[in-house]
Amino acid sequence: MQRFPFLLWTLLFCLAFSTCVARQAPWVMRISCGARLNVHTAPTNTLWYKDFAYTGGIPANATRPSNISPPLKTLRYFPLSSGPNNCYNINRVPKGHYTVRVFFGLDGHRNFDNEPLFDISIEGTQIYSLKSGWTNHDDQVFTEALVFLTDGTASICFHSTGHGDPAILSIEILQMEDRAYYFGPAWVQGIILRTAARLSCGNGKPKFDVDYSGDHWGGDRFWSPIKTFGQGSDLARSTESGIKKASNAPNYYPEALYQTALVSTDTQPDLAYTMDVDPNRNYSIWLHFAEIDSSVTAAGKRVFDILINGVVTFEDVDIVKMSGDRYTALVLNTTVTVSGRTLTIGLHPKEGSHAIINAIEVFEILTAESKTLLEEVRALQSLKSALSLPLRFGWNGDPCVPQEHPWNGADCHFDKTSSKWFIDGLYCLDPFPQIHFYSFFTTIYLNQILSFIESFLLFIHATHYLLSALFHSKS
Ligand SMILES: *[C@@H]1O[C@H](CO)[C@@H](O)[C@H](O)[C@H]1NC(C)=O
Ligand SMILES: *[C@@H]1O[C@H](CO)[C@@H](O)[C@H](O)[C@H]1NC(C)=O
Ligand SMILES: *[C@@H]1O[C@H](CO)[C@@H](O)[C@H](O)[C@H]1NC(C)=O
Repeated sequence: MQRFPFLLWTLLFCLAFSTCVARQAPWVMRISCGARLNVHTAPTNTLWYKDFAYTGGIPANATRPSNISPPLKTLRYFPLSSGPNNCYNINRVPKGHYTVRVFFGLDGHRNFDNEPLFDISIEGTQIYSLKSGWTNHDDQVFTEALVFLTDGTASICFHSTGHGDPAILSIEILQMEDRAYYFGPAWVQGIILRTAARLSCGNGKPKFDVDYSGDHWGGDRFWSPIKTFGQGSDLARSTESGIKKASNAPNYYPEALYQTALVSTDTQPDLAYTMDVDPNRNYSIWLHFAEIDSSVTAAGKRVFDILINGVVTFEDVDIVKMSGDRYTALVLNTTVTVSGRTLTIGLHPKEGSHAIINAIEVFEILTAESKTLLEEVRALQSLKSALSLPLRFGWNGDPCVPQEHPWNGADCHFDKTSSKWFIDGLYCLDPFPQIHFYSFFTTIYLNQILSFIESFLLFIHATHYLLSALFHSKS
């Protein structure tokens, strides 16, 4: 009689214990760019590693462009003398799914007539171009993307566009659940989700997941506050009550996100949020709801349609019915192709006259670029060090991608069968007129040929490159 409960307790204990053990902390790497020592920031005592893994640039004192930027005192900037492409190459990153976030910096001492504008790539895929006026918008002082890192490295590169020197305050690589933001069959490892907007409706203050006491597996998302959609007739609503089913896998949203909302009013029963987007892109949209209005007491009392750019995407949404209860989280997601420059999310009441929404997330769906053949990259890197190529060649990151910023002098072609880029030859072309083909050639022959022979592989490659370079110069 006594034994059975004892066994049961043991079993329960083991189960509880093993779930605790299985749920480890996510892998996290934070870098305080330009910092000479590790930094701990208040209020959460977050650790930022001192600067490492960069290919060039200069450390400087930072001015934070926004209060939401992490409270770090330094940055790293990349003047043109460091080359047009510069990277952070972080090694030993466990294979997985990560949020990569980069905060931009402003140098407090140098003359900043203009904000620097530059491009950012992750693993060879260009994810973002800074927009002028970014220093005036909290949600533009960083860029963030959800990527699969599968080869043990994270390569994050900054590409000059001729508008000031790229300046970076911090880099964060935060592990997410493997199936975080799974949106259906088109979701594969070859996609990247760049955060385009993340709004907490009816809330007045900018918040990170950590401010909301969110789960560490949530990637410490930043939620921009939005108190009105601009019609002037919606109302902010909030509750202190607990919300059920908020922090579920795979996305682990913070419960507090569902404790505020925007609700429409009699004068304007529809809710509509409009944002600017880049045309002809695909977007993944995530909408968050919880019935926190005490006047809505049961299923059927509030029913609305959700329209995206005028097309009914979710019909007859009944939060209480679909989530199972009041004060319970409901997350809906959909993907859309937007041909124009605006994205409008509309809510149109059908039962009860007011619509409600708690939060909105919009991601641009990007296709990860194919990379350059590894042997080719290695050969070029050896060539770079053997020749002591000037930094201004910009030979950092992947030679051929992002396609907007290939290495100077690399003639890249895409091989459809292997889905890889390969280098057909080197030529010396001129955004940099001081380097002419013949001086390049002579340098190779007179000073460096011996070091080529040291490595047979390198020799083969170098010969190949030189011959094709010669060919290019004749044609
Ligand atoms: C950065 O600020 C520190 C004091 O906070 C100062 O000692 C140092 O000289 C500054 N560095 C530059 C490059 O201005
Ligand atoms: C997103 O929506 C798709 C399609 O409706 C669904 O299969 C998927 O499970 C949803 N993702 C999450 C995380 O809820
Ligand atoms: C958008 O998705 C469709 C498939 O749904 C695809 O054919 C198209 O190439 C995508 N567009 C972009 C810009 O990725």
